[in-house]
Amino acid sequence: MTETDATDVSDCRRCEALCDSRSRIVNGVGPTDAALLFIGEAPGRHEDEGGEPFVGRSGDVLDAALRDNGLARADVRITNCVRCRPPDNRDPTAEELSQCRGYLEREIDAVNPAAVVTLGKVPSEHLLGRSVGVTAEAGSVCEARIAGAARRVVVCVHPAATLYDPSQTEPFEASVAAAIELVEGGGDQSRLGDF
Ligand code: URA
Repeated sequence: MTETDATDVSDCRRCEALCDSRSRIVNGVGPTDAALLFIGEAPGRHEDEGGEPFVGRSGDVLDAALRDNGLARADVRITNCVRCRPPDNRDPTAEELSQCRGYLEREIDAVNPAAVVTLGKVPSEHLLGRSVGVTAEAGSVCEARIAGAARRVVVCVHPAATLYDPSQTEPFEASVAAAIELVEGGGDQSRLGDF
């Protein structure tokens, strides 16, 4: 069982299809003052069962990449754009993303991370507000205004992509390493003041 925090959503019935397909709402986990906030798309079967983001095979891949860079899962914050499992693991619709957006923005605000890491196309496009070629842009640091605040967003390959396409392993691992290096190296937060 994960601990609750102020960014948790305990009940929500905004999306009929998701209310029907979910077993539970899957809130973010990890320190509420984490330097890195990883954002996935939506819970899958394992996350819906376990009540925690990224606990299935893609979670194992993410945990291993963190370990390779000297971090434990408990050192970072992990959440999703949408907190309920979509039917048949389909992508969340634009309407569902927008219904859940306020919860995500509240979490980003509360955690106030040094960098947000978007895992895959859906979260990258949702937060950057433009079309993203994830493989081509993996590891790049973008600036985005999210809920009125300037944020650094590191585009990352989704860990699940490495499971069905081994050529995605290198860009995935490199983008996680780039995000960690960015926050551990201090980065240049001051540039964001102008944004
Ligand atoms: N994929 C996601 O995008 N999120 C999860 O929590 C698990 C798999």
